[in-house]
Amino acid sequence: DKGNHRHFMAKEIYEQPETISHTLSHYLDMGAERVALRETLPFDFARLSRLTMSACGTAYFAGSIAKYWFEKLARLPVDIDVASEFRYREPPLQADGLSLFISQSGETADTLAALRYCAGQGQHVASLVNVRESTIARESQVVFPTLCGPEIGVASTKALTAQLSALASLALAAGVARGAIGPEAEAELVRALISLPSAVSKALKSEGQIVEIAKSLSKAKDVLYLGRGPMYPVAMEGALKLKEISYIHAEGYAAGELKHGPIALVDESMPVIVVAPSDPLMEKTLSNMQEVAARGGRIILITDEDGAAQAGHGIADIILIPKVSSFVAPILATIPVQLLAYHTAVFMGTDVDQPRNLAKSVTVE
Ligand code: M6R
Repeated sequence: DKGNHRHFMAKEIYEQPETISHTLSHYLDMGAERVALRETLPFDFARLSRLTMSACGTAYFAGSIAKYWFEKLARLPVDIDVASEFRYREPPLQADGLSLFISQSGETADTLAALRYCAGQGQHVASLVNVRESTIARESQVVFPTLCGPEIGVASTKALTAQLSALASLALAAGVARGAIGPEAEAELVRALISLPSAVSKALKSEGQIVEIAKSLSKAKDVLYLGRGPMYPVAMEGALKLKEISYIHAEGYAAGELKHGPIALVDESMPVIVVAPSDPLMEKTLSNMQEVAARGGRIILITDEDGAAQAGHGIADIILIPKVSSFVAPILATIPVQLLAYHTAVFMGTDVDQPRNLAKSVTVE
């Protein structure tokens, strides 16, 4: 049932304040402002040597964002790779390592093969899945759930923000267990997570403006997405979403890599979407953005009010998201990129929920 929405994807985008809140309530004790995992862990975060994540598509971008959290908040070394590469690399794995597999469906063939490899290597095996009865869940020693309900649209939206909510909580739990986060910092980070659903509701209100921008995006042949730090995977996710449902070629790039090649592509006909909420790295991204502006690129900036105040000239459009802590900002920043892709696809007249050549669950390699 699509409710009042034209597509499942739109319905699922709009469900996110609720699905994020539902997922967070599983991982947090909101009253006590503490992280509180319900699962019995077959490992001790404090003793882990390394975290190795594998996943595909959007789930891989969730892990790529989480890498920043685990490294920063828990001082835990992290590897992440797409499962189709990881499984054949057969990398050496350290003793006392945790392998974490992220999958909405829990049935993705490459992710499952990566899991079996790690289990065979004696790693602790955990998964983050949306389908509890799935094969990946069954073969894991511990299953962390995303509680976003069934996702019907082939383009993943609410599953991503649920994965991120769970991963942020797990990174916090790891940080507390490893002594990297004290009680005050923990309470502050938990409050940042608690404030997320209402920030997402506010971000969804820029839909009207996004429809106008999407109209112009639908005329583009290529679109570049730029981000730095945890906004880099958000940029890649934005590009993936646009490609898969609008069939417009898009690429996500680390903002600092721009001058190592892709800036040669920039001209008046190429929209460049810059994901840069205000944080300590924003200034760097903004200077990359100015390099694009100087070459006539059409810039669409996703930022908050502080970022907009510092953005300077030459920007075609600014999509404002509420100002939140830099910890949760990458989760919030996925909302406008979802809406941009969705409305661009609607203008293109594609089959948004069932894009050509794609399956919801990729059970063959
Ligand atoms: O079920 P999974 O999370 O394992 O699926 C992984 C990818 O196939 C999936 O995220 C895909 O990239 C989506 N269509 C992206 O929107």
